[in-house]
Amino acid sequence: MWSPPTSAREAAIAEPLLNVAELSSGYGPVRALWDVSVRIEEGELVTLVGGNGAGKTTLLRTLSGLLPASAGTIRFAGEDITRLPAHLRARRGIVQVPEGRQVLAPMTVEDNLRLGGYARPQGEIGAALAEMYALFNDLRLRRRDIAGHLSGGQQQMLAIARGLMARPRVLLLDEPSMGLSPILVDEVFATVERLRASGTTIFLVEQNAYRALSIADRGYVLEAGRIILEGPAASLMVNDRVKEAYLGL
Ligand SMILES: Nc1ncnc2c1ncn2[C@@H]1O[C@H](COP(=O)(O)OP(=O)(O)OP(=O)(O)O)[C@@H](O)[C@H]1O
Ligand SMILES: [Mg+2]
Repeated sequence: MWSPPTSAREAAIAEPLLNVAELSSGYGPVRALWDVSVRIEEGELVTLVGGNGAGKTTLLRTLSGLLPASAGTIRFAGEDITRLPAHLRARRGIVQVPEGRQVLAPMTVEDNLRLGGYARPQGEIGAALAEMYALFNDLRLRRRDIAGHLSGGQQQMLAIARGLMARPRVLLLDEPSMGLSPILVDEVFATVERLRASGTTIFLVEQNAYRALSIADRGYVLEAGRIILEGPAASLMVNDRVKEAYLGL
C-alpha cells in the first residue's frame, strides 16, 4: 500500500480540519470581510464573537459556500474548497445552522429532521433519527407536531438537530441563543457543550460573548470585518478590550 512520505504525512497531520487564510468576501462591490484567517482543529469548539454587523454571518456563509470568496483560501480536511459549490461543501461535512431558527414551520418535527438528512443513504435515516431523539428528548416527544408550534427554544434545538442529521464534520452555528429567554439560552449552551463532548467540531458564532467564551477552547474577535484578536478562550475572557467591548465589565 502506498503511504505518503513522512514530510507530507506530517503536513497532513499538522493542518487543521478547517484552515481559512486571508479570506475576503462581501456583497457585490461591498466588502464585508477583510483578510480573515481562522483555523479549527478536529474536535475543537471555537467561537467567533463580534457586535452587530461585524461580519459573523458573512464569514459563515462564505465558509459554507453561500457567498463567494473574493480573495483568500478555504481549506477543509486538506482540500482547497474555496471555489467548491455549497452543496458539495455540505457533502464534505460543512453544515451551517442559520441564524433565526429557520425551521420549516408547516412541516412536522420529524419531516424537518428527515430533510436535514436528505443527502444520506435512506437506510441510515432511522438510526440517525433515533440518535437525535436520544439527544433531544423534547423533539422525540413532539416528533409528530408541526414545527411552527414548538417553543422558540425547541425550534432552535430542531434547527441544530436538522444540521446534525447531515452528519457534519464541522457544525457552523450562527447565534443559536439569539432571542431566547434566559432558561432557553442555558439549554442551548448546554446542548452545544454536549455536542462538543460527543466529539463534534463546532464553530460557534455568538453575541453572548461571555457564555460562548466560557465553553469554547479558543476564540476570535471580529470587528468591522477584521479579526482583531484571537487566542485561548480563557485568555480572551480576561483581555481588557474584550472585557470592555463584549463582556460589559
Ligand atoms: N445581503 C446583504 N447585502 C448587502 N450587505 C449586507 C448583506 N448582509 C449583510 N450585509 C452587510 O455586511 C456587513 C456584515 O453583516 P453580517 O450580517 O455578516 O454581520 P453579523 O456580524 O452577522 O451581524 P449580526 O450580529 O447582526 O447578525 C454589515 O455591514 C451588513 O450591513
Ligand atoms: Mg449575523
